[in-house]
Amino acid sequence: MNALDTAFVRRQFPAFRENGLEGQAFFENAGGSYACRQVLWRLERFYRERKVQPYGPYAASEAGGAEMDEARARLAAHLGVARDELHFGPSTSANTYVLSQAVRGWMPPGSALIVTNQDHEANSGPWRRLAEDGGFEIREWRIDPQSGALDPADLAPLLDEKVRLVCFPHCSNVVGEINDVPAITAMVRAAGAYSCVDGVSLAPHGLPDIGALGADIYLFSAYKTFGPHQGIMTISQGLAARLPNQGHWFNGDVLTRRFTPAGPDHAQVAACAGLSDYIDALYEHHFRAGRDAAGRSGRVRQLIRAYETVLLEPLMAYLETRRDLRVIGPQAAGPARAPTVALALGEPARAAAARLARHGIMAGGGDFYARRPLQAMGVDLGRGVLRLSLVHYNTPEEVDRLITALDCEL
Ligand SMILES: Cc1ncc(COP(=O)(O)O)c(C=O)c1O
Repeated sequence: MNALDTAFVRRQFPAFRENGLEGQAFFENAGGSYACRQVLWRLERFYRERKVQPYGPYAASEAGGAEMDEARARLAAHLGVARDELHFGPSTSANTYVLSQAVRGWMPPGSALIVTNQDHEANSGPWRRLAEDGGFEIREWRIDPQSGALDPADLAPLLDEKVRLVCFPHCSNVVGEINDVPAITAMVRAAGAYSCVDGVSLAPHGLPDIGALGADIYLFSAYKTFGPHQGIMTISQGLAARLPNQGHWFNGDVLTRRFTPAGPDHAQVAACAGLSDYIDALYEHHFRAGRDAAGRSGRVRQLIRAYETVLLEPLMAYLETRRDLRVIGPQAAGPARAPTVALALGEPARAAAARLARHGIMAGGGDFYARRPLQAMGVDLGRGVLRLSLVHYNTPEEVDRLITALDCEL
């Protein structure tokens, strides 16, 4: 297995050459990552050369439309889905909101939905509202209050013929545990229901093979995945055809226009092709040519995950020695742990983050819109958690600096 070349990786991110960010170690990636140069270059080119209504009969317009189509086709291939299963929306929160309106129109009265208390509010609140004003039943799949884990054994008794949709996270943005999505979607399918998976906290650690996950709906946010501020969602063709159109009535026959009524910035859609450029660049730098897009994306994912797991080890080992802090979620680095580590402190976490900033450590404190899981785990919401989130452009030296700063300030 090749090792990730972090010098190469960091050359792909102009932020590392910005004077204002010099000497800063960035650990709030789960809030929004740096953008890769491929995305920035496309964004600027679009605004300079192609910022006209796309799909018209003149060159600039054709180029803009073609680049938007390229983004869709290449990302869909990297994600293992068909082109018309991929949708660009303004954000994941906006996407789930629109989806919930579609689901409201599709589910027969008396149907049930399952939500979790591990999710970020984006994949929770819009669904719960359907019970308040839609006459549907909401069932909650609950986490273990100590570990924060979601146990599939607790899902089984909630599933019956009334359940139409099960919404759950691939990975929570505060618990950091990677849920066994293929096993859960198989359970959901066997019960005759559809699955809606929030992959926002997982996608930055390697784009998933959504086809293999078996998720009917999968959501993630491009701005946390080295791209522009958009929400990307996939909806299986079968489900998309059943859900009522949420776009203009005359666009109802076009799958990709049915669930994104707020058609997002064209330049950003086009710039999402830069995410595919970046994956391909990582692949070509580390491996011999060959493989289709899904295969390349899979190898890059393995490369990133192997690197991040080792990167996280010293931080988790250090935290194990700090019995005075509560580490939320899995206590050790490993394949089922994303490098998103939340700590409950004996003080408001924002104050601790402010002290870390003096050491050139960029981290955040708060509830990160994950109030339900934090509350279920008994975390004081007034204090929130200090979140340290790493991605593959972070280095072991930065993690050492983080540990030194934590030791000094907490
Ligand atoms: C796990 C998770 N899901 C959903 C969201 C919402 O994403 P967006 O900001 O694109 O609406 C976030 C944002 O922080 C998140 O961390």
